[in-house]
Amino acid sequence: MSEGRLWGGRFGATSTKAFDRLNASLPVDRRLWPEDVQGSRAHARMLAEQGIIGEDDAQLIDGGLVRIADELGSGDFVFAPGDEDIHTAVERRLTELVGDAGRRLHTARSRNDQVITDTLMYLRGRAAEQVELLREMAEALLSQAEGHVDSLVPGYTHGQRAQPVRFAHHLLAYVWMLNRDRRRLAVVVEACEECPLGSGALAGVGFPVDRASVAAALGFARPSPNSIDAVGSRDALVDYLHFAAQLGVHLSRLGGEIVVWASEEYGFLELDDGFSSGSSMLPQKKNPDAAELARAKSARLTADLGGLLGVLAGLPLAYNKDLQEDKEFLFDASDTVELLLPAMAGTVATARFRADRMGAAADGGALAAIDLADHLVREGWPFRKAHEAVGALVRSCLERGTSLAAVGDSELEAAGLGGLELPELSPEASVESKAVPGGTSRARVLDQLDAARAAVASW
Ligand code: ARG
Repeated sequence: MSEGRLWGGRFGATSTKAFDRLNASLPVDRRLWPEDVQGSRAHARMLAEQGIIGEDDAQLIDGGLVRIADELGSGDFVFAPGDEDIHTAVERRLTELVGDAGRRLHTARSRNDQVITDTLMYLRGRAAEQVELLREMAEALLSQAEGHVDSLVPGYTHGQRAQPVRFAHHLLAYVWMLNRDRRRLAVVVEACEECPLGSGALAGVGFPVDRASVAAALGFARPSPNSIDAVGSRDALVDYLHFAAQLGVHLSRLGGEIVVWASEEYGFLELDDGFSSGSSMLPQKKNPDAAELARAKSARLTADLGGLLGVLAGLPLAYNKDLQEDKEFLFDASDTVELLLPAMAGTVATARFRADRMGAAADGGALAAIDLADHLVREGWPFRKAHEAVGALVRSCLERGTSLAAVGDSELEAAGLGGLELPELSPEASVESKAVPGGTSRARVLDQLDAARAAVASW
C-alpha cells in the first residue's frame, strides 16, 4: 500500500520519488490553508446538521480544525513527506489529532470540488484587496491631473509631436483604462459566486447534503448548477488572468512613458528618490526602475493568461490533474499585480512633472498646423485644399527654421496664402479650440476630471 496516502487502499507499492516530486502541489497550494480549513469546517457542520455524521464527531473535527489553523498560522504545523497537497496535509493532521472522526470529514466530498471551492474563495479575497490597490493608483493619477490642468504637453502619434494637449487630459486617459480594469475585476467577483461543494468527484454526491447552506456559510451566492462544470472549469481564474494581463498592459504603457519622460532628452519629470535607484558604476544616474519593471512585468501577466488557456484547451471534462497547474498562474499573476500597483501609484504620486519642459515642447514648430487648416476651412476653404496649402507652408517653415506662428508675408505668398490674416496659433488657443466632449479644452478637461473622480468613487 502507498504509505500514508489518502488514496493508498487501491495501491500495492509505494510511489516513487520522481513521481511524488512531479505530482505534489503542496509548495504552491499551501497558501490556500485558511480557505481549506474554513471550507472543511462548514462541510463538517453541514454533515452533522444533515445527520450524515454524528454531532460528537463534528465537534471533534471542528476542534481539530481550529487547532490546525493555529498551527498553520503560527508556523508550527509540521508537514509530512506524504502530504501531497494542502487538502491532504490538513486531513492527515486532523486524523492524527482526532482519530476516526477525522476520517469521516471527507464523506460526501472530493478533492475535486474542494480545491476549486478553496481557490474561488481565495480569489474573491484577493480581488477585493486589489480593488483598493487600483483605487490608490487611480487617486495618484487623479491628483497629478488636478495639478496639471493648465500644463500643456505635446500629444504624440507615431512617436512624433502631433498636437498640444493638457497634461491632465493625458493622465486621465490612464484613469479611464483603470476604470475598465475595475469592471473586469467585478466580472471576476461575479464568476466566484457559485459554490462547487457537493459536486463530489464530478457526478454530485450520494448523501442528502445541504449545498445551499454550505454555499451561504462560505460566502457564496448559491451552489453551482452543474457538478461536471463545477469541478472541470476554471473560468473565474481565466477572468482574473484576463484582468491582470490587461491591467499589466496599461501599467506597462504608463511605465514606458515614464521611462522616456524621465530621460534628459524629454525632461518631463523628475522621479522621487524613493521610487528610483542609482547605478553601481555611474555616480550621476537616477534610474526609473519601477517604471521599467512595470513595462516588463506585463509579459509575465500575458504569459500567465496564455498559460492557463493553454492548459484548458482540449481538456476533456471533467477534472484532470492538468487543472492542478491553474494555481501557479493565478498566484503568479495576483502576486505580480500586488507588487506593481503600489510601486506605480507611489511613482506617479511622488513624481515632479516639469510643466516648463512640457510647455516648451508643446510650443512652436508646426504643432498648430491643423489649427491653421481649420481656420481656412472656417473661411470657406475645402479641407483638402487647406491641408495642402498648410503643408506647403510647413515645408517652407522647416526649410527656413521658423515656427508656423512666426511666418512672414513672403512664405504665405509662396504657399498660396498671400494676404491671409493669421489667427492666433499658440498652444493655448489650440487646446481651447478642442471643446468637444472628451476634448482637451479647459472646460472639457474639468468636466472629465469630475466624471473620472465620480467613477473612481463608485468603485
Ligand atoms: N492538488 C489537486 C489540485 O490542485 C487537488 C485535486 C486532486 N484531485 C484528484 N482527483 N487527484 O488540483
